[in-house]
Amino acid sequence: MSDPLPAPPHPLAGLAPPPDPGPSLLSLLFCPPANMFEAFPREAYEVPVFRPRRMPSLLVVVSDPDAVRRVMLDEVADFPRHAQSDEIFSAMFGEGLLGVTGETWRRHRRILAPAFGPRSIAALAPVMTDAAAAWVERWAALAGAAPVDMAAEMKGVGLKIVSDTMFSAGADELTALANGALSVLQDELRLGLPDALPLLGPLIRQRKYARVRREIVRFDAAIDRMIGERERDPAAAPEDLLSRLMAARDGEDGAGLTAKEVRDEVVTIFEAGHETTASALTFAWYLLAHHPAEEARLQAELDGVLGGRLPTAADVPSLPYTRMVIEETMRLYPPVPTIAARTARRDCEICGVPVRAGQRVFVTPWIIHRHRALWDAPERFDPERFSPERSAGRPRFAYLPFGAGPRVCIGAGFAMMEATLVLAALAQRFRARMLPGHRVRLRAQLTLGPIGGLPMTLEARRPG
Ligand code: HEM
Repeated sequence: MSDPLPAPPHPLAGLAPPPDPGPSLLSLLFCPPANMFEAFPREAYEVPVFRPRRMPSLLVVVSDPDAVRRVMLDEVADFPRHAQSDEIFSAMFGEGLLGVTGETWRRHRRILAPAFGPRSIAALAPVMTDAAAAWVERWAALAGAAPVDMAAEMKGVGLKIVSDTMFSAGADELTALANGALSVLQDELRLGLPDALPLLGPLIRQRKYARVRREIVRFDAAIDRMIGERERDPAAAPEDLLSRLMAARDGEDGAGLTAKEVRDEVVTIFEAGHETTASALTFAWYLLAHHPAEEARLQAELDGVLGGRLPTAADVPSLPYTRMVIEETMRLYPPVPTIAARTARRDCEICGVPVRAGQRVFVTPWIIHRHRALWDAPERFDPERFSPERSAGRPRFAYLPFGAGPRVCIGAGFAMMEATLVLAALAQRFRARMLPGHRVRLRAQLTLGPIGGLPMTLEARRPG
């Protein structure tokens, strides 16, 4: 049995779409909010393709699953990433997978794919279990004491996992640098109208990118040192993700990645890999704290399958409800709330809405996952939606926390393994509770998170 909760007014209070007509887009562009979805009226959650009424040429948001499939997969060459998204990702990730486009991207994707395949992930899973075990110990000391910041806790375990899988050791220096770089990126890349001005815009953007680069350069130098050490003594290199990236070869021409490319991939994987999974886990704790029946069902599954021991990769297929909790959390709180803007290469129509060449086209999981035409009671937390029976017949492009098409997240398998093992290890032993009266405010930019963290208290529980 779970403890009674301090009753919140409504678990999603303040997070549902604002009423029509919503705030003026112009004011939002001059003063962009931390949560970009405050700019979208209710209508955006009801129509297949949304265009802001006051500035229809600014952007379109595509939510109809067949139309999403067109943009992300069937006609992907006609909807490349928008030049400004390319600029941002190239500033941050250099020649890493997220930073490159065209033939270079295809080559990198081919070389990296095996390192993220099921066999490789299963081999990395024991490192994830060890990190989860370290967090069980950490929480044993914190339970019943002062509140923790759940967002920081989940980022901590995420950084440990990406660091340990990549370098076989907790690289404290890299962890601090990665943390700093991403927060600079989130601050700097909140785009407003000045960024889009014809002459001034590029100058303003270049200044922002320079600041991001300055942060990344410090991270680069630390990774260069590690690569150098391994090149000098390859026999002593451990079997981790860095060794795999250094040894990986292109199936087509047999060539590998250069030292700079390896370094940029490391930065990319570090940045793309820890904050996203941490966001999913943070909101899982938030939702479980507000839904005692679902929490009890999760605990019953964990007790039955694990009986107090730590989870391993072999347990994952026996933990379907744990997976459903994670999937439903990412429906309501997609860690990447909007996929990087695409652009229409030529004039076209999407669901009867005219789209002009050069216009920004957005596919946003946040809106699609709460769309009135796609989900029953979209604001309700209901993990059972992801049971095989209830998932049957759901369009593939109605749920896309990991994106879709050729640029779909390469780390999706890694992330699901990590989230399942961490949630299973911790939820078996602990409950987390909201502080009475605490109201969550969202930051929705590149990733989703609670502004100012998520204070929660931890309570120990004995596996049944
Ligand atoms: C819950 C966790 C995660 C979520 C929700 C997520 C989401 C996404 C999304 C939506 C994209 C597509 C972006 C686009 O099309 O513009 C993406 C791409 C990517 N993700 Fe993830 N991700 C997660 C975890 C990870 C992890 C753990 C790693 C690495 C270990 C990773 C590495 C990448 C990389 C390298 C790309 C670029 C792929 C490409 O452009 O070919 N992600 N991710």
